[in-house]
Amino acid sequence: MDTVDEATSQVIAGENQELPASTKADTGSSIILALTNQKGGVGKTTTAVNLGACLAEGGARVLLVDLDPQGNATTGVGIDRGSVKAGTYELLGGSGGAEAILATDVAGLDVLPSTIDLAGAEVELVSAFSRETKLRQGLAGLRGEYDFVLIDSPPSLGLLTVNALAACDEVVVPIQCEYYALEGLGQLIRTLDLVRDGLNPSLRVGGVVLTMFDARTKLAEQVVAEVRRHFGDAVFHSIIPRSVRLSEAPGFGKPIIRYDPSSRAATSYRELAAEARARWPRTRPQAQPTTEGESR
Ligand SMILES: Nc1ncnc2c1ncn2[C@@H]1O[C@H](COP(=O)(O)OP(=O)(O)OP(=O)(O)O)[C@@H](O)[C@H]1O
Ligand SMILES: [Mg+2]
Repeated sequence: MDTVDEATSQVIAGENQELPASTKADTGSSIILALTNQKGGVGKTTTAVNLGACLAEGGARVLLVDLDPQGNATTGVGIDRGSVKAGTYELLGGSGGAEAILATDVAGLDVLPSTIDLAGAEVELVSAFSRETKLRQGLAGLRGEYDFVLIDSPPSLGLLTVNALAACDEVVVPIQCEYYALEGLGQLIRTLDLVRDGLNPSLRVGGVVLTMFDARTKLAEQVVAEVRRHFGDAVFHSIIPRSVRLSEAPGFGKPIIRYDPSSRAATSYRELAAEARARWPRTRPQAQPTTEGESR
């Protein structure tokens, strides 16, 4: 099939050669993963929310960082944006932000919400000193508190996404099982190369998630085969099906494991979480009994 040009294919193939089967060793602190693909509507937010919820369900401490001015991850976990006073914008600005972290209905899943201010951050950051590493600086102090930090990036390769790439340990790329699925991935890989050279030497694609798979179409099978050929072991075995229940859940402010726990989509995201746990094993000291006021 012809969804990717030769040059892109070579860039992706080159990237693929660098990918070992298992990824970053347990460091005893958070693994920070950026859900990134500048293509819009591929399942970045849906995957960030639902992978986060399933990891938390399995006992992990998870922070979902909403780095998209659209705020879909924030509302997707049931937070009313109108009531949010501070969030990722403040963290980027160095004026706090950590205290803006909110608990969600899923035990163990916290969110750093996005407020509408974040829409201006891309422009404001342009003139800021060390503008590409604001998020990294902001998250540094939170590493010890979480097993997984999942950054939901906006659909662009602008400064917000560059901040996500500079702050993360590994990138997870959701790819929609549709025509043109691989379009633009060469550009993403080249951006990763630039960030790796200048800002984050160990950055790499740690995972590829196939989303919105429709078993009735031959095309979906072809996309899966092509993505597996290009990205090899980085591609998770779990494939997220196209599911009306998944698209309905954000309207109720619920991850799928709360909205329809026995659906195929919930099972798929649970399987993805199991793979993520195996790929990035986290061991940490046994949780201490929480003292008053610490049960965020
Ligand atoms: N597996 C799925 N089945 C059906 N609908 C889905 C699925 N995954 C996501 N959707 C829906 O598709 C739309 C796009 O998904 P999502 O918002 O997760 O993509 P995104 O990459 O974060 O988009 P953006 O680039 O705008 O941030 C949403 O309406 C979402 O509810
Ligand atoms: Mg999104």
